Amino acid sequence: MPLTHTRDLFAKALKGKYAIGAFNVNNMELLQAIVEACEEEKAPVILQISKGARQYANPVYLKKLIEAAISVTNIPIAVHLDHGDSFELCKQCIDEGFTSVMIDGSHLPFEKNVELTKRVVDYAHKHNCVVEGELGQLVGAQHDDGEEGGGYSKGGVYTHPDEAVEFVRLTGVDSLAVAIGNSHGAYKFKGEQHLDIERLKAIKKALVDAGLGDYPLVLHGASSVPRDVVAEINKYGGNLGSDTAGVPEADIEIARRTGCTKVNIDTDLRLAMTAAIRRVFAENPKEFDPRKYLGPARQKVKELVRHKVKNVLCCAGHAFD
Ligand code: G3H
Ligand code: 13P
Ligand code: ZN
Repeated sequence: MPLTHTRDLFAKALKGKYAIGAFNVNNMELLQAIVEACEEEKAPVILQISKGARQYANPVYLKKLIEAAISVTNIPIAVHLDHGDSFELCKQCIDEGFTSVMIDGSHLPFEKNVELTKRVVDYAHKHNCVVEGELGQLVGAQHDDGEEGGGYSKGGVYTHPDEAVEFVRLTGVDSLAVAIGNSHGAYKFKGEQHLDIERLKAIKKALVDAGLGDYPLVLHGASSVPRDVVAEINKYGGNLGSDTAGVPEADIEIARRTGCTKVNIDTDLRLAMTAAIRRVFAENPKEFDPRKYLGPARQKVKELVRHKVKNVLCCAGHAFD
C-alpha cells in the first residue's frame, strides 16, 4: 500500500471519534514494534520522524526502513516530520516524499509564525503534502501569564481560541497543535495538574463557529509515563526521579473525544524500551548479543503501542474504514 495522507486519516477519525497515534521512529526495532502492533490491531498509524531522528539514523536509512515496513503490511501509514524547525527542513522532507510535515513556529511571535507556516503550506500543498502548525508553547501546566480573570487573553503561553482561528485562516494549515498544559518528556506535571480541557473545548468551538468545520487538532506530549514502567527501570538500575508524571490516559481519552485527532507519543516508547533492556542486563549480566536485549525491547514497545491504539486512542479496527 502506498503512503497515506493524514488528511484522509483525519477525516475518517473525526467521523469515527477516534484518534490516530503518531509514534516517533528512530531505529528499526521501534519501527517494527509500531507497525506490527498496528497491523495486529488493524489500526491506521502515523510514523513521525524528528530532526534528531534524521541526524541519528540518516534520512536514507529511515526512508528505506519505512519502505520495508510498508511492503510487509497493508495498514494505512502516513510519514510525518515531527517539529520541523525551518522551511528548508520541511522542503527536504516534502521532496523526499513525506505525506505530512510539521512546521513548528510556536516560539516565534504570532505574525512570524504565520509567515513561516504559510510559506511551508504553500510549498507543501503544491507537492501533495499536508502541514501541521503549532500555536502556543508546550510548557506544561502552569499559570498562563496571559490569562486574566479566568478568561482567555492573548499573549500567554497557551493557545488562544480566537488566535487559533486566525492562525488557521491566515496560513491554510491542515491541522493545529495546541498548547493546553501539555509538554514533552517524562516530567510533565507537578502534583494534581491536568490538561486544560476547557480551553481545548473553547478552541474547538471557536473553529467550528468560524466555519472551519470539525478541524483536526493535535496533542503533543501525550505520553502517560506509566508508573509500572518507570518502577521497572528503577528496579533494574535506573534512576528516574520520583517526580516523573505523564498525561493520565483518562485525559487523553477526553482530549480525543474533544477533537484531538492526532496524538503524539514518544517518551512512553523510550521508557518501555529502556525498561526491557535494563531488565535483560540486570538479570543476565553476561549477555552481549544485541538481539537478546533489543528483541525484548521491541516486544515491550509493541505491547505498549497495542494498548494505546486499542484502549486509549480507540483507532484499533479502523484501518480499513
Ligand atoms: O517532541 C519531540 C519528540 O519526542 C522527538 O524528540 O527531538 O529527541 O527526537 P527528539
Ligand atoms: P511525549 O514526550 O509525551 O511522548 O511527546 C511526544 C511528542 O509530542 C512528539 O512530537
Ligand atoms: Zn511534540
